[in-house]
Amino acid sequence: MTKATHFAAEWLRNPKRVGAIAPSGADLARAITTGLSHDSGPVVELGPGTGSFTDRILARGVPACRLAAVEAGAGFAGLLAKRHPEIALAHGDAARVRTLVPFTSGSVETVICGLPLLSMPLAQVFRIMRGSFDLLGEDGEFRLFTYGPKCPLPFRIKQRLGLRSDRQSFVPLNMPPATVYTLRRKGPP
Ligand SMILES: C[S@@+](CC[C@H](N)C(=O)[O-])C[C@H]1O[C@@H](n2cnc3c(N)ncnc32)[C@H](O)[C@@H]1O
Repeated sequence: MTKATHFAAEWLRNPKRVGAIAPSGADLARAITTGLSHDSGPVVELGPGTGSFTDRILARGVPACRLAAVEAGAGFAGLLAKRHPEIALAHGDAARVRTLVPFTSGSVETVICGLPLLSMPLAQVFRIMRGSFDLLGEDGEFRLFTYGPKCPLPFRIKQRLGLRSDRQSFVPLNMPPATVYTLRRKGPP
Protein backbone atom coordinates (compact mmCIF):
# COMPACT_ATOMS: atom_id res chain seq x y z
CA MET A 1 0.00 0.00 0.00
CA THR A 2 1.36 3.48 -0.85
CA LYS A 3 1.52 6.23 1.77
CA ALA A 4 -1.33 8.07 0.01
CA THR A 5 -3.56 4.95 -0.01
CA HIS A 6 -2.76 4.26 3.64
CA PHE A 7 -3.63 7.86 4.51
CA ALA A 8 -6.96 7.77 2.61
CA ALA A 9 -7.87 4.46 4.29
CA GLU A 10 -7.23 5.98 7.74
CA TRP A 11 -9.30 9.02 6.77
CA LEU A 12 -12.23 6.76 5.78
CA ARG A 13 -11.98 5.05 9.17
CA ASN A 14 -11.85 8.30 11.18
CA PRO A 15 -12.30 11.48 9.08
CA LYS A 16 -12.55 13.83 12.06
CA ARG A 17 -9.34 12.66 13.71
CA VAL A 18 -7.32 12.52 10.49
CA GLY A 19 -8.63 15.88 9.27
CA ALA A 20 -7.23 15.67 5.70
CA ILE A 21 -7.72 13.23 2.85
CA ALA A 22 -4.08 13.19 1.74
CA PRO A 23 -0.69 13.59 3.41
CA SER A 24 1.02 17.01 3.32
CA GLY A 25 3.20 17.62 0.28
CA ALA A 26 6.95 18.24 0.06
CA ASP A 27 6.63 22.05 -0.08
CA LEU A 28 4.64 22.20 3.16
CA ALA A 29 7.04 19.74 4.81
CA ARG A 30 9.95 22.00 3.80
CA ALA A 31 8.19 25.15 5.05
CA ILE A 32 7.19 23.81 8.47
CA THR A 33 10.67 22.36 9.12
CA THR A 34 12.61 25.46 7.95
CA GLY A 35 15.81 26.04 9.90
CA LEU A 36 16.01 22.62 11.56
CA SER A 37 19.45 21.02 11.26
CA HIS A 38 21.91 18.65 12.92
CA ASP A 39 22.46 21.43 15.52
CA SER A 40 18.79 21.62 16.52
CA GLY A 41 17.72 20.80 20.06
CA PRO A 42 15.02 18.19 20.74
CA VAL A 43 12.04 18.22 18.38
CA VAL A 44 8.57 16.85 19.12
CA GLU A 45 6.18 16.02 16.29
CA LEU A 46 2.44 15.81 16.99
CA GLY A 47 0.24 13.83 14.56
CA PRO A 48 2.88 12.54 12.13
CA GLY A 49 0.42 10.43 10.09
CA THR A 50 2.38 8.69 7.33
CA GLY A 51 5.48 10.75 8.14
CA SER A 52 5.72 13.59 5.57
CA PHE A 53 7.14 15.95 8.20
CA THR A 54 9.08 13.19 10.00
CA ASP A 55 10.97 12.35 6.81
CA ARG A 56 11.85 16.02 6.28
CA ILE A 57 12.92 16.62 9.90
CA LEU A 58 15.35 13.69 9.62
CA ALA A 59 16.47 14.74 6.11
CA ARG A 60 17.41 18.14 7.54
CA GLY A 61 19.88 16.36 9.80
CA VAL A 62 18.06 16.34 13.17
CA PRO A 63 19.50 13.24 14.89
CA ALA A 64 16.88 10.52 15.43
CA CYS A 65 17.67 10.49 19.16
CA ARG A 66 16.46 14.13 19.30
CA LEU A 67 13.09 13.43 17.66
CA ALA A 68 9.97 12.15 19.42
CA ALA A 69 6.49 11.82 17.92
CA VAL A 70 2.97 11.29 19.29
CA GLU A 71 0.33 9.73 17.04
CA ALA A 72 -3.22 8.76 18.08
CA GLY A 73 -4.11 6.55 15.10
CA ALA A 74 -3.07 2.91 15.55
CA GLY A 75 -2.64 2.37 11.79
CA PHE A 76 -0.43 5.45 11.40
CA ALA A 77 1.57 4.62 14.54
CA GLY A 78 2.19 1.05 13.27
CA LEU A 79 3.33 2.33 9.88
CA LEU A 80 5.63 4.98 11.35
CA ALA A 81 7.16 2.52 13.83
CA LYS A 82 8.10 0.30 10.87
CA ARG A 83 9.43 3.19 8.75
CA HIS A 84 11.31 4.94 11.55
CA PRO A 85 12.12 2.47 14.35
CA GLU A 86 14.96 4.83 15.38
CA ILE A 87 12.69 7.61 16.73
CA ALA A 88 10.79 7.68 20.04
CA LEU A 89 7.21 7.17 18.88
CA ALA A 90 4.29 7.12 21.32
CA HIS A 91 0.87 5.84 20.32
CA GLY A 92 -1.50 8.11 22.23
CA ASP A 93 -3.28 11.44 22.57
CA ALA A 94 -1.15 14.56 22.09
CA ALA A 95 -3.04 16.04 25.05
CA ARG A 96 -0.72 13.80 27.14
CA VAL A 97 2.43 14.87 25.26
CA ARG A 98 4.12 15.96 28.50
CA THR A 99 4.26 12.37 29.76
CA LEU A 100 4.53 10.59 26.39
CA VAL A 101 7.86 11.95 25.16
CA PRO A 102 11.28 11.22 26.69
CA PHE A 103 12.27 14.90 27.08
CA THR A 104 12.25 17.01 30.22
CA SER A 105 10.37 20.28 30.83
CA GLY A 106 11.99 23.21 29.06
CA SER A 107 14.37 21.06 26.99
CA VAL A 108 12.51 21.01 23.66
CA GLU A 109 13.40 23.53 20.95
CA THR A 110 10.65 22.95 18.38
CA VAL A 111 7.21 21.32 18.26
CA ILE A 112 5.98 20.48 14.75
CA CYS A 113 2.22 20.06 14.83
CA GLY A 114 0.20 18.23 12.18
CA LEU A 115 -2.94 17.95 14.33
CA PRO A 116 -6.41 18.97 13.09
CA LEU A 117 -6.84 21.48 15.96
CA LEU A 118 -9.99 23.00 14.45
CA SER A 119 -11.93 19.75 14.80
CA MET A 120 -10.90 19.15 18.43
CA PRO A 121 -12.73 20.19 21.61
CA LEU A 122 -11.30 23.37 23.15
CA ALA A 123 -10.29 21.58 26.37
CA GLN A 124 -8.21 19.06 24.40
CA VAL A 125 -6.51 21.84 22.39
CA PHE A 126 -5.72 23.63 25.65
CA ARG A 127 -4.10 20.51 27.14
CA ILE A 128 -2.05 19.97 23.95
CA MET A 129 -0.77 23.56 24.04
CA ARG A 130 -0.12 23.62 27.79
CA GLY A 131 1.79 20.31 27.59
CA SER A 132 3.79 21.43 24.55
CA PHE A 133 4.78 24.79 26.10
CA ASP A 134 5.73 23.01 29.31
CA LEU A 135 8.22 20.98 27.24
CA LEU A 136 9.44 23.95 25.18
CA GLY A 137 12.29 26.12 26.43
CA GLU A 138 11.89 29.92 26.83
CA ASP A 139 12.64 30.58 23.13
CA GLY A 140 10.96 27.42 21.88
CA GLU A 141 8.70 27.44 18.84
CA PHE A 142 5.43 25.61 18.18
CA ARG A 143 4.79 25.39 14.44
CA LEU A 144 1.48 24.45 12.91
CA PHE A 145 -0.32 24.72 9.60
CA THR A 146 -3.84 25.44 8.49
CA TYR A 147 -5.86 25.43 5.28
CA GLY A 148 -7.94 28.28 6.67
CA PRO A 149 -7.55 32.08 6.59
CA LYS A 150 -6.17 32.59 10.13
CA CYS A 151 -4.16 30.94 12.88
CA PRO A 152 -6.24 27.94 14.06
CA LEU A 153 -5.40 28.41 17.75
CA PRO A 154 -8.29 30.22 19.49
CA PHE A 155 -7.49 33.67 20.91
CA ARG A 156 -8.66 32.57 24.39
CA ILE A 157 -6.00 29.85 24.53
CA LYS A 158 -3.28 32.18 23.25
CA GLN A 159 -4.25 34.73 25.87
CA ARG A 160 -4.43 32.21 28.73
CA LEU A 161 -0.99 30.77 27.92
CA GLY A 162 0.60 34.12 27.03
CA LEU A 163 1.37 33.20 23.41
CA ARG A 164 1.67 35.16 20.23
CA SER A 165 1.35 33.81 16.70
CA ASP A 166 3.25 34.88 13.59
CA ARG A 167 2.41 33.93 10.04
CA GLN A 168 5.57 32.19 8.83
CA SER A 169 4.84 31.27 5.21
CA PHE A 170 2.16 30.50 2.65
CA VAL A 171 2.48 27.28 0.65
CA PRO A 172 0.38 27.67 -2.52
CA LEU A 173 1.49 24.39 -4.09
CA ASN A 174 0.26 22.20 -1.24
CA MET A 175 -3.05 20.43 -1.88
CA PRO A 176 -4.94 22.31 -0.53
CA PRO A 177 -2.82 25.47 -0.15
CA ALA A 178 -1.70 25.93 3.45
CA THR A 179 -0.24 28.58 5.76
CA VAL A 180 2.39 27.87 8.41
CA TYR A 181 2.18 29.75 11.73
CA THR A 182 4.67 29.88 14.59
CA LEU A 183 3.58 30.29 18.20
CA ARG A 184 5.98 31.62 20.83
CA ARG A 185 5.75 32.90 24.38
CA LYS A 186 5.17 36.65 24.51
CA GLY A 187 8.15 38.46 25.93
CA PRO A 188 7.79 40.68 29.01
CA PRO A 189 5.54 43.72 28.33
C1 LIG B 1 -4.03 16.25 9.05
S1 LIG B 1 -3.25 14.72 9.54
C2 LIG B 1 -1.54 15.25 9.34
C3 LIG B 1 -0.60 14.10 9.13
C4 LIG B 1 0.83 14.53 8.73
N1 LIG B 1 1.43 15.37 9.75
C5 LIG B 1 0.82 15.28 7.42
O1 LIG B 1 0.90 16.51 7.46
O2 LIG B 1 0.70 14.60 6.39
C6 LIG B 1 -3.52 14.74 11.32
C7 LIG B 1 -2.77 13.66 12.09
O3 LIG B 1 -2.97 13.90 13.49
C8 LIG B 1 -3.30 12.66 14.13
N2 LIG B 1 -4.07 12.97 15.35
C9 LIG B 1 -5.34 13.46 15.42
N3 LIG B 1 -5.69 13.67 16.70
C10 LIG B 1 -4.60 13.35 17.46
C11 LIG B 1 -4.31 13.40 18.85
N4 LIG B 1 -5.23 13.81 19.74
N5 LIG B 1 -3.10 13.01 19.27
C12 LIG B 1 -2.14 12.58 18.38
N6 LIG B 1 -2.36 12.51 17.05
C13 LIG B 1 -3.57 12.89 16.59
C14 LIG B 1 -4.09 11.91 13.05
O4 LIG B 1 -4.17 10.53 13.32
C15 LIG B 1 -3.25 12.25 11.82
O5 LIG B 1 -2.12 11.42 11.73
